[in-house]
Amino acid sequence: MQINPTDFVLADRPQGLDVNGIGVREVVWGGDAEADFQSLVDDIKRDREVMIDATGVAHFLDDCGIPYGLAVFHRRPITTAPDPTNSPGRISRLIQTRKWRVRALPKNIQHVVFGINNHEEAFRFLRDRLRFRLSDVMRGSGIFARCDGNNDHHQIFFVEAKTCIEGLDGKNRFHHANFGVEDIYELMIGVNRMKRRGWPKSTTGLGRHRLSSGLFCYMPCPAGGQAEYGTDFDALDDNWVPRVYELKFSIPRG
Ligand SMILES: [Fe+2]
Repeated sequence: MQINPTDFVLADRPQGLDVNGIGVREVVWGGDAEADFQSLVDDIKRDREVMIDATGVAHFLDDCGIPYGLAVFHRRPITTAPDPTNSPGRISRLIQTRKWRVRALPKNIQHVVFGINNHEEAFRFLRDRLRFRLSDVMRGSGIFARCDGNNDHHQIFFVEAKTCIEGLDGKNRFHHANFGVEDIYELMIGVNRMKRRGWPKSTTGLGRHRLSSGLFCYMPCPAGGQAEYGTDFDALDDNWVPRVYELKFSIPRG
């Protein structure tokens, strides 16, 4: 779907925006089935205003005031080919050099994160109205959720706004967006290039998330919140049994 940015003006959207500070102003969810799109929109219309713009994107607010859009969207297939990795005592790449990279080229937006008061209510809306799945829970502090039909560990993470995590201050806020790269090599090259070009450094450095297993590096984003390079997340389907962990267990370690 070709999106025309001129169609995206706040005046055309439902009023009631309740996300503070700069950052992502709306998350548009894309689905490839026209019939599903219509049935979801019909359901959402039952109890809230839905604005359909000139490109066919439906705009609405969830029960916490988070602005969402819903669109029919056919994503171009993503192809990656990470090089096999050698390790002490194990050869996976014999007489074969690795590809050489000079910069990172993110393949997709893997997830977005909001600090939200009443994060459970924010999750319930996605589960009950947009068919999201529960992936994992940080007890009392956060919920990871994924879209119907998407195998990545999460496409959204709601963290309770008062949680003691950098970038949260008790208000509803955008926290970060994750940009997917092929492997740790591409992630490293991306971070190094950003540093060389003078962008503010990451305060947490490179690390791996305990929940989702994803490798990460966050950097402050001038458009608000943080931009995260990410790779090697767990892949789930409906056989997955969601887990519940304490916050102390799940906070990222660099
Ligand atoms: Fe993330």
